[in-house]
Amino acid sequence: MIKFDHVYKKYDDTNSAIEDLNLEIKDGDFFVMVGTSGSGKTTTLKMINRLIKPTSGQILIDGKNIDTYDLRKMRLNMGYVLQNIALFPNLTIEENITIQPDSLRWSKDKRKQVAWDLLKKVGLDPEKYAKRLPHELSGGEQQRVGIIRALATSPKTVLMDEPFSALDPISRTQLQDLVLKLHRELKTTFIFVTHDMHEAIRLGNTIAVLSKGNLEQIGNRDDILNHPKNDFVKGFFQIEKNGPSTVGEIVDAGFGQKIDTEINSTLLKEDSLTRLATELKVNAGVVVFDNDGNNYQLTNSDLLDFLAKEGEK
Ligand SMILES: Nc1ncnc2c1ncn2[C@@H]1O[C@H](COP(=O)(O)OP(=O)(O)OP(=O)(O)O)[C@@H](O)[C@H]1O
Ligand SMILES: [Mg+2]
Repeated sequence: MIKFDHVYKKYDDTNSAIEDLNLEIKDGDFFVMVGTSGSGKTTTLKMINRLIKPTSGQILIDGKNIDTYDLRKMRLNMGYVLQNIALFPNLTIEENITIQPDSLRWSKDKRKQVAWDLLKKVGLDPEKYAKRLPHELSGGEQQRVGIIRALATSPKTVLMDEPFSALDPISRTQLQDLVLKLHRELKTTFIFVTHDMHEAIRLGNTIAVLSKGNLEQIGNRDDILNHPKNDFVKGFFQIEKNGPSTVGEIVDAGFGQKIDTEINSTLLKEDSLTRLATELKVNAGVVVFDNDGNNYQLTNSDLLDFLAKEGEK
C-alpha cells in the first residue's frame, strides 16, 4: 500500500502545489488522479517515485517511509509512463523494452523472451516489430511500447502521467482497453493521471479529484458521479453524468467517416442526438453534415454503436 501522510509541496514562496494531502492507494488498485491543469497531478505522481521531494509530510510504501528504500531497487519496482513516450530513437523496439532488464544484466535469451511476450500481449507481432526503430511505428504503436517498457521488470506499481493525451480518440479508446486488460492480467497497481474526466471514469476503480493542490474527493465511480462532495466535483463530472449529447461528440468519439460527398442534411455539430435520429429517418439512414469544415457521414449503426458504447460506461 502507498500512503500519503500530510504531504505538502511548495516549489517557491508564492506557489504551493500540494496542500496537506492524505490518501491511500491499495495494492492492485487502478487508481486515477484527475484534475485541471496545474492542480498538482504530476507533482503528486513524481513524489511517489522520488523525482520530487515533499516539502513536509511523508509518503509510505508498505508502512515504510519511501526515503528508507534503496532508490534504484525502488524505481525498478515502479514503472513510469510519460505523456511523451520518449523511446530512444536509435535503439530498436526490443532494445527499448529491455533497457531495464539490460541494466539488471538479464541474459540475452531472457531479455528477448520478455520483450517478445510483451509485444504479443499488446498486439504487436514481434517478428515484425522487434527490430524496427521507433520512427517506423505510429504514435499509438509507440505508446504501446512505452507502456510495455514500463512493465518489463514486472514492477509492483506502474505510474502513468497522461499517457494517451496526444492520441486520436480511436487509438485512445484502444489503449484504454489495453491498460484495463493488462491490469486485469497482471494484478499490478496502476496509478494513472489524467485531466479527462471521461478517461478517469472509464479506467479508475478509485478516483481522486484534485483542484489547486487540494483533494476534493476520493471514491469509486458511483461516489464521484452520484454523490459528489461539492460543487467542484459536481461541475467537473456533469457532462460525464449526462452523457455526450451532441452530434459533434459522436464524431469526436471516433464514429462516422470523413468524406467528400455533398451535405444532404441541415444538421449542425451542436445538434442533439434526437435531431440526428430524425435526420437519419428522412435521409434513409445516412446523413452527411459539416463538422468544422469537414464533411462527415454518420449512419444508423454509428448512432447505435455510439449509444451502446456510452451505455457500457
Ligand atoms: N518545477 C517547478 N517549479 C515551480 N513551480 C512548479 C514546478 N512544477 C510545477 N509547478 C507548479 O505546481 C503546480 C502543480 O503543477 P503540476 O505539474 O503538478 O500540475 P498538473 O496537475 O500535472 O498539471 P497538467 O495537467 O498541466 O500537467 C502548478 O501551479 C505549477 O505551476
Ligand atoms: Mg501534469
